[in-house]
Amino acid sequence: MSDPLRPRASLRTAVVWDVLKDALERRVKAAGRDALDVLDTGGGSGNFAVPVARLGHRVTVVDPSPNALFALERRAAEAGVADRIRGVQGDAHGLFDVVERGGYDAVLCHGVLEYVDDPAEGLANVAGALRPAGTLSLLAAGLGGAVLARALAGHFTEARRALTDPAGRWGEGDPVPRRFTAEQLTELVTATGLQVGAVHGVRVFADLVPGVLVDTEPGALDALLKLEAAAAEQPAFHSVATQLHVLAERD
Ligand SMILES: C[S@@+](CC[C@H](N)C(=O)[O-])C[C@H]1O[C@@H](n2cnc3c(N)ncnc32)[C@H](O)[C@@H]1O
Repeated sequence: MSDPLRPRASLRTAVVWDVLKDALERRVKAAGRDALDVLDTGGGSGNFAVPVARLGHRVTVVDPSPNALFALERRAAEAGVADRIRGVQGDAHGLFDVVERGGYDAVLCHGVLEYVDDPAEGLANVAGALRPAGTLSLLAAGLGGAVLARALAGHFTEARRALTDPAGRWGEGDPVPRRFTAEQLTELVTATGLQVGAVHGVRVFADLVPGVLVDTEPGALDALLKLEAAAAEQPAFHSVATQLHVLAERD
């Protein structure tokens, strides 16, 4: 999903996209169908929904924001996939008011669990939208990455506060309501009855490296992408990643 016009944007999405694309390919083979039914809960303006639709899958995006859904519609039209993307206003808590329970081969929940009122209940609904053997792709803010970022910016008190705060927030001005450790996320997923397949650390270095090093050194972006991909696999780096990705399956 690297964007030649916005190369640095690929640093935010590359690891998740590679894991997700492989998981969708496996699901296609197992299901014996080329086109999967994919639900993107809190899919926003389609950062993942549009590329997933470009693979040929049918994507339903549920999001509470009318502005995001409007932007999604425009992006889907620009990408030529308007016929494969459906935007629906709704939220994770009332998910089955707007989509079918057990109706999807894959469900994405990226950058949403931080914002829902009750993560356990929200995630139970997300998991409940899966068909048997369906795949969950969960991405959420990591606690350790935020602590490290505040400390390296010289905000030591905020870093300590995030470390000790039950929600992992660094202060009143923190725009993120909640962060997770890898253990908390896998426990939440396991509690829904899904089997955790893999955990990846996302943006271990990308947010800490000065932009000038990436933008001006020839080959630096490519080398950093490869480093991120290698570190993502290593449990030792999960505790300092900006985001954590969990892939899970329904029995
Ligand atoms: C950080 S954005 C992530 C968007 C997209 N998933 C992505 O990865 O680019 C968070 C999204 O969650 C949506 N959201 C907030 N509260 C939600 C809820 N209770 N249920 C579902 N989506 C929610 C927001 O409208 C927003 O589009």
